[in-house]
Amino acid sequence: MKSTRILENRALAERIYLLTLQIDEDLMNKLSPGHFVKIKLPDQRLDPLFPRPYTIHSLIGGHLQVLYQIVGKGTRALSQLTAGTDLEILVPLGRPFPRDLGYPLALVAGGVGVAGFGFLLESLPQEKRKETILYYGASSKESLVRLDYWETFGVTLKLATEDGSAGYKGFVTDLLQSDLSERKFKSILACGPMPMLKRIKEIAANSTIKTYLSMESFMACGTGFCKGCVVPRKGGGYFHICEDGPTFLADDIIL
Ligand SMILES: Cc1cc2nc3c(=O)[nH]c(=O)nc-3n(C[C@H](O)[C@H](O)[C@H](O)COP(=O)(O)OP(=O)(O)OC[C@H]3O[C@@H](n4cnc5c(N)ncnc54)[C@H](O)[C@@H]3O)c2cc1C
Ligand code: FES
Repeated sequence: MKSTRILENRALAERIYLLTLQIDEDLMNKLSPGHFVKIKLPDQRLDPLFPRPYTIHSLIGGHLQVLYQIVGKGTRALSQLTAGTDLEILVPLGRPFPRDLGYPLALVAGGVGVAGFGFLLESLPQEKRKETILYYGASSKESLVRLDYWETFGVTLKLATEDGSAGYKGFVTDLLQSDLSERKFKSILACGPMPMLKRIKEIAANSTIKTYLSMESFMACGTGFCKGCVVPRKGGGYFHICEDGPTFLADDIIL
């Protein structure tokens, strides 16, 4: 565990927060897009028992940022912490996003699944950003966060909302599918809820696009020890999401 301090913990939308942590240069140099961090709450003992996992959202300005949504006790307690609070974090965890992403690239995000794409886009050269389309879907306009930030990268931003309050009305996967006939993507990288990942796996099964899915799961240890975060592996056996992932080639896993 490493010690860190909260610089800011700000609400961006209902139940969605941006947490900014102070980290040193030595740690910063060890982080790559796709890594995740476990955050231990101050005085965390029995409930919730385990530090919760979050993707690294951004490293801009030498600060580590986490974009998170309140879903239960751990995330609610995190949202109540204020600047100046000292925390312990376990980082870097997991394997980074694959280095062989092909371009044009489709990034597909459902809700706060968009988090990890910030650090990825920050790391890409401008010519690769220009060849990237970010498909970003949420339930409504209010839940689409940091649109100004996504626009700074010069990517093509395509929005979808279930209620039609911004962008395409419907699921982000439908938007992606309708584009596939005209856009010749070499890779898809998707992060979001399980139904979205399943749908992307189906869509990609009929194409030659190299497709990667970033998975979530409840995680006790986060380091491969407890064997509690499994996803079935094509051909038999299981992957551990924390250790072997969280990002997998869609063809390698069974959802
Ligand atoms: C590798 C990895 C990276 C992640 N990155 C992020 C991130 O960047 N931002 C973020 O907001 N979350 C992220 N998550 C999910 C986050 O870890 C969980 O939302 C968090 O652990 C929930 O803790 P809790 O104590 O608030 O909820 P709990 O009390 O543990 O659960 C409360 C309720 O929420 C449900 N729940 C738990 N996890 C999820 C989930 N992921 N989605 C929907 N419902 C859930 C539970 O089934 C339960 O019903 C990530 C998870 C993993 C494994
Ligand atoms: S969380 Fe323990 S093995 Fe993955």
